[in-house]
Amino acid sequence: MSKPRILVARACFPEVLTYLQTHFDVESNQADKIFGAAELIEKSRDKDGIISTSSERITAELLSACPRLKAVCNQAVGYNNIDIAAATKAGVMVTNTPDVLNQTTADFAWALLMATARRVTESEHWLRAGNWKQWRFDSFLGSDVHGATLGIIGMGRIGQAIARRSMGFDMQVLYHNRSRLAPELETHANHARYVSKDELLQQADHVVLVLPYSPESHHTIAAKELALMKPGATLINIARGGIVDDVALIAALRDQKIAAAGLDVFENEPAFHPDFLTLTNVVLTPHIASASEPTRRAMADCAAQNLVAALLPEKIGGLPPN
Ligand code: DGY
Repeated sequence: MSKPRILVARACFPEVLTYLQTHFDVESNQADKIFGAAELIEKSRDKDGIISTSSERITAELLSACPRLKAVCNQAVGYNNIDIAAATKAGVMVTNTPDVLNQTTADFAWALLMATARRVTESEHWLRAGNWKQWRFDSFLGSDVHGATLGIIGMGRIGQAIARRSMGFDMQVLYHNRSRLAPELETHANHARYVSKDELLQQADHVVLVLPYSPESHHTIAAKELALMKPGATLINIARGGIVDDVALIAALRDQKIAAAGLDVFENEPAFHPDFLTLTNVVLTPHIASASEPTRRAMADCAAQNLVAALLPEKIGGLPPN
């Protein structure tokens, strides 16, 4: 019997590709070319499965052009790049890679929070530009992290991992989520207190966004919400770009309505609003929150096993160790 045909849409760890090749007839993209919409459809047309990343848009048009397609396995926890309603209608299974990236992503939220609050990248750029002539008592005064109030919007597993890390900084944690956590989870998350979004924005010194993107969460943080935040507050977004209204955020940063922002994601990434580059009070990173070597390997392994489970359920198990 011939093997199912799959597309691995982006460059993949060689061991994972080898594993996939033992089960599937694989079209790979080790050159990591970015396929346009039409090319992605052409490449997917004769495939039974796709291994995607959050950069590939799996649209209703693609799904209807690919009648053989049975599974799309996204190497990401977020899946807003996939039209889930159209996939469901077409009978295409969609999988993501939850859990394996929780701790790494939580670590990065802290990296961004610390860099933003303590002006790490801003002062480094200034130093590299040859500006440091004399030590000054009042240069690069930032905000404290220890003892501050941390506000987390989106209290899933990553949000809870971020909250747990705040214990060492003696912080108070407020959170907002679609639903309140069970009491034991709140306790474990540094005694996080469930509050309304507005209360969180008014009280938090550092606000971290960890909620999934959906039409409902589009522009969760826009001009009205930014106006509620403390003037010294920082905003960290490690979730998805469209959750923040970038134009409103740029205005708030420029007018110092909030102190600073740390952004790993942008509304139209990899493009982003050029005005961000004119601001010194924003730390910008290229969507790397889950990008540690072990975690990206774990995400790739998880997606590969998901595809085997979806297309060849009788063969599941046994990835070669990394
Ligand atoms: C995720 O897993 O959703 C990360 O943002 C990478 O796309």
